[in-house]
Amino acid sequence: MDINRYLKRKQELIDGFLKEYTAKNKNNSCPKRLYRSMDYSLMAGGKRVRPILAIASHEALSGRSKNILPIASSLELIHTYSLIHDDLPAMDNDDMRRNKPTNHIVFGEATAILAGDALLTDAFGIISGLKENPRTLINVLGELTHACGPQGMVGGQTVDILLEGKKAKKSDLLYIHTRKTGALIRASVRIGALTARATQGKLNALTKYGENVGLAFQIIDDILDITGTNSELGKSVGTDIIRGKNTYPSVFGIKKSMQDAENLIKKSLAAIRDFDDRAEPLREIAKYILRRRN
Ligand code: IPE
Ligand code: IPE
Ligand code: MG
Ligand code: MG
Ligand code: MG
Repeated sequence: MDINRYLKRKQELIDGFLKEYTAKNKNNSCPKRLYRSMDYSLMAGGKRVRPILAIASHEALSGRSKNILPIASSLELIHTYSLIHDDLPAMDNDDMRRNKPTNHIVFGEATAILAGDALLTDAFGIISGLKENPRTLINVLGELTHACGPQGMVGGQTVDILLEGKKAKKSDLLYIHTRKTGALIRASVRIGALTARATQGKLNALTKYGENVGLAFQIIDDILDITGTNSELGKSVGTDIIRGKNTYPSVFGIKKSMQDAENLIKKSLAAIRDFDDRAEPLREIAKYILRRRN
């Protein structure tokens, strides 16, 4: 299969949904400045990896829920919120994101914080408003809450910041990476499966796939901060070292980090070994995550 074509097609679908979503904000009582700030970051591009993983996981199980697009797109609202906040001066203090000045540079910190809050809140609003089996919806919402909350992304981000400039133990590094980035990626894959009414066996296999891909994704992000360029990545490279971040390369070196990422992708492929051709996009996405340059 042509993975680039697949990714492009899905990106277009997701962008279409997101455009409709921001248009609704424009036309309701959302303050104009807040709308512009949310729209600025959401529509700045982005690979849409998390929603695509949710859709690919759904399709691997022949799921046919008409709600998979809004549910998957909600993951991008959450991800975009996390990026806006991650870039704030009090966090990573970055000035470039998705090839544009970061949200707080353009709109100021107060609006950037509030735009993030609004995106996160709306993600739950979009999902809870869908006509779907109530049990499935509750499971999806629970999954997201767990992945984004103190035991998930926010917990990981906290330790990432607390250990800045300090030498992290390997177990701390693993904690940071599996939470700050791994948790939402794991949840994306699981949500696609939950909405397809996966059997426990399939859900377990996809969970393993998601965990391995999620950790590999952040290891590659760390490596690209050293080996990538600003124009490829659309964000400033080399900032992890400046900020004293604990990254895979800073703890293990680039070579071992790449080997670890390769092994994780192998494990992710092994986890879904028994799936048929419908899981081909999931397999190709895992390989793409390893070789990506942005
Ligand atoms: C960057 O995420 C931040 C991490 C969690 C590693 P992506 O690499 O998915 O960024 P976009 O969405 O494509 O901009
Ligand atoms: C970001 O990790 C994780 C979240 C946004 C939750 P990074 O701080 O490494 O992401 P980049 O490199 O700024 O995109
Ligand atoms: Mg960060
Ligand atoms: Mg950052
Ligand atoms: Mg990074």
